Amino acid sequence: MKRIMVTGGAGFIGSAFIRYQLRRDPGIHIVNFDKLTYAGNLDNVKDADPARHTFIRGDIADLDAVLAAMEGCDAVVNFAAESHVDRSIMGATEFLRTNVDGVYCIVEAARRLKTERVLLVSTDEVYGSIDTGAFLESDRLNPRNPYSAAKAGGELVGRSFFETFGVPVIVTRGSNTYGPYQYPEKVLPLFLTNAIDGEGLPIYRGGEHNVRDWLFVDDHCAGIDTALRRGTPGEIYNIAGENERELITLTRKVLELTGRDESLIQPVPDRPGHDKRYAIDCGKLKALGWQPAMDWEEGMALTARWYRENEWWWRKIKTGEFRAYYERQYRQRG
Ligand code: NAD
Ligand code: DAU
Repeated sequence: MKRIMVTGGAGFIGSAFIRYQLRRDPGIHIVNFDKLTYAGNLDNVKDADPARHTFIRGDIADLDAVLAAMEGCDAVVNFAAESHVDRSIMGATEFLRTNVDGVYCIVEAARRLKTERVLLVSTDEVYGSIDTGAFLESDRLNPRNPYSAAKAGGELVGRSFFETFGVPVIVTRGSNTYGPYQYPEKVLPLFLTNAIDGEGLPIYRGGEHNVRDWLFVDDHCAGIDTALRRGTPGEIYNIAGENERELITLTRKVLELTGRDESLIQPVPDRPGHDKRYAIDCGKLKALGWQPAMDWEEGMALTARWYRENEWWWRKIKTGEFRAYYERQYRQRG
């Protein structure tokens, strides 16, 4: 592959994927197509070599714009999405537009342009919550919030284009991803940056029973790359971190890494429809030669250090659009 279109490449995982590709292959050119919503940030790709990285501002739900940008690309990897569950509970319109209509435009453009590979980045949230064990790719979909329902809808549109038109669609379903450059609405960067400032950590339902599987961002990118290059069209691949932790454990680790004590923990009312536990089995992707490499303690320490050393990146975000969102979101939680 010589030219890859990455949609949502100014976001958290998309920008890490671009850095990953540029490191991995000196001959590759990336077309980064991103709408620059509140979550899109060109600071995330400021170090990308301009000779091998073209940025185009555009909306994946605009078919003409997608067609124009994708022309001449061997592959497209879609990261573009509305990605925050709490925002989808406040209003789902943009989630359906981007996560479903937007995916339709990508696969329709791929059908017309005969693109060789289409990788749709999806999430373990499409399976819903699980008490014990781990979901396999063949398990039924049971999304339980507007964000994950829209992601499942996008997947289904994509897979229908494989079945009906033979568009070479591959889907990946990743776990909770963490690392540098994550927008501070998500729990880990929110708690890290609040703790650095000595502000409260609003933990839903005490955090004792909420379990997530933590996947370091570079492991997620390597998993997507493996599925893209070695996966089979029409197939789905889970990407797990194999690092399950209760949220209270993660919260205590944040306090330890920032030198704060438990007085910062502020239990607040729960998220409606809160999924208790996510867990996926990633044996199918491991069979292609990938496996998660980052140790959780090391990944947490590295991430905390990055937020401590890169206040230039997150301080301006937290004083902008984010502040109004935070007040609206957490005011209703008391
Ligand atoms: P993010 O919110 O940090 O970034 C999303 C990016 O998409 C932003 O740059 C934004 O500007 C862009 N975008 C949004 N709507 C767009 C549109 N209509 N057209 C073009 N660009 C648009 O998200 P993220 O956390 O990096 O997640 C990336 C992808 O990975 C998403 O598809 C998400 O569902 C999936 N995913 C995320 C996680 C996680 O834990 N963060 C885990 C599994 C899967
Ligand atoms: O599992 C993959 C998914 O992980 C991705 O598809 C999503 O894009 C990504 O946002 C993430 O979803 P979650 O809902 O799991 O992440 P979030 O950071 O919003 O919440 C993680 C846990 O922390 C969850 O149990 C809710 C809790 N939480 C979250 C916030 C923002 C709190 O207790 N307090 C908070 O302020």
